[in-house]
Amino acid sequence: MMNFRGDVQSRRMPFSFLPTSVIISVNLHKRIMKLHTMVTALVSGGNRGLGYGIVRRLANEFPSSPIATSSADKLTIYLGSRDVSKGEDAKTSITSELAKDVQERVSIEVRQLDATSHESISKLGAELESGVDILINNAGIALDGFDASVAKQTVATNYYALQDVIKNIKVKDGGRIVNIASLTGVLKGFGDNVRERFVNAKTIADSDALMQEFQDVVADGSWKDKGWKGAAYATSKSGVIAYTRALAKQYQQEGKKVDVVSCCPGYVNTDMTKGKGYKTLDQGAETPVLLALGKLDAKPGEFWSEKKSVDWENS
Ligand SMILES: NC(=O)c1ccc[n+]([C@@H]2O[C@H](COP(=O)([O-])OP(=O)(O)OC[C@H]3O[C@@H](n4cnc5c(N)ncnc54)[C@H](OP(=O)(O)O)[C@@H]3O)[C@@H](O)[C@H]2O)c1
Repeated sequence: MMNFRGDVQSRRMPFSFLPTSVIISVNLHKRIMKLHTMVTALVSGGNRGLGYGIVRRLANEFPSSPIATSSADKLTIYLGSRDVSKGEDAKTSITSELAKDVQERVSIEVRQLDATSHESISKLGAELESGVDILINNAGIALDGFDASVAKQTVATNYYALQDVIKNIKVKDGGRIVNIASLTGVLKGFGDNVRERFVNAKTIADSDALMQEFQDVVADGSWKDKGWKGAAYATSKSGVIAYTRALAKQYQQEGKKVDVVSCCPGYVNTDMTKGKGYKTLDQGAETPVLLALGKLDAKPGEFWSEKKSVDWENS
């Protein structure tokens, strides 16, 4: 009976003039809206290896996690992959492995993410403008050999690319960042001078200076005399742990409500470990996923392994 104009007018009517049935339905709708929360997570390098295992385990653990405050809460996992078609293959495979009740709560969406391309990161950062609740920086490389080029490429991917992702992909207040480091990043093997500088790295600039110095001493061949290790991968991961500690301090000073931690997944059977890793992808994903979902009581800046905090300063 109402024409378009009348319908517009009715929307402007005070609430009390609406029929009871409409008020009940509006209230119910509001309650449903309030009860239903959409949680979002981004995993870099989610197309294979540990990243694949992290996406799958995140999906399986979400429904019973403290982050899912109601049975109506849902999770969207952005599966970051340099090559979108490989990401889509991973998504199809992971989805086929999820139980129906998990599939009802979790969706996986593939996003192009090359961590060493600032353009790729910025594009995704712009798309995910409102931010994600969970960011898991998993993408990484372990190259054969040891020279200036290996040191440079390794630090660029494992250390600076991870920072670039954190700077450009917003994480919402109350959210979490999990940086995948490694137990190879322990301080054993460094000379006392280098070791002390890692322990005392309070700011990101301190940590960046260490990663720059590492590249310089490898390039001029003085790394051994100056107390560095001849291991690019391990040193880049010491950098990730130091950076995570410094970032947590910076967030605390800024009053930013995002928790950031680093962890080692253990020795996992992936392409990187060339079949030598003894953990399955699911086992490797355990500590990173439990940290991301708040199932472990981690303090900001800590480095974790096997579901425990590691005393890195004395490692
Ligand atoms: N496996 C272990 O035992 C172990 C132990 C300690 C720590 N970790 C850490 O766990 C993480 C995953 O390792 P993994 O064993 O799964 O290695 P992996 O099998 O070699 O897989 C590496 C993943 O990272 C991606 N990636 C590499 N460079 C990238 C870039 N620039 N941008 C975006 N993605 C990139 C790869 O994508 P593409 O397919 O496009 O190459 C792939 O998805 C790494 O950070 C590694 O250091 C692994």
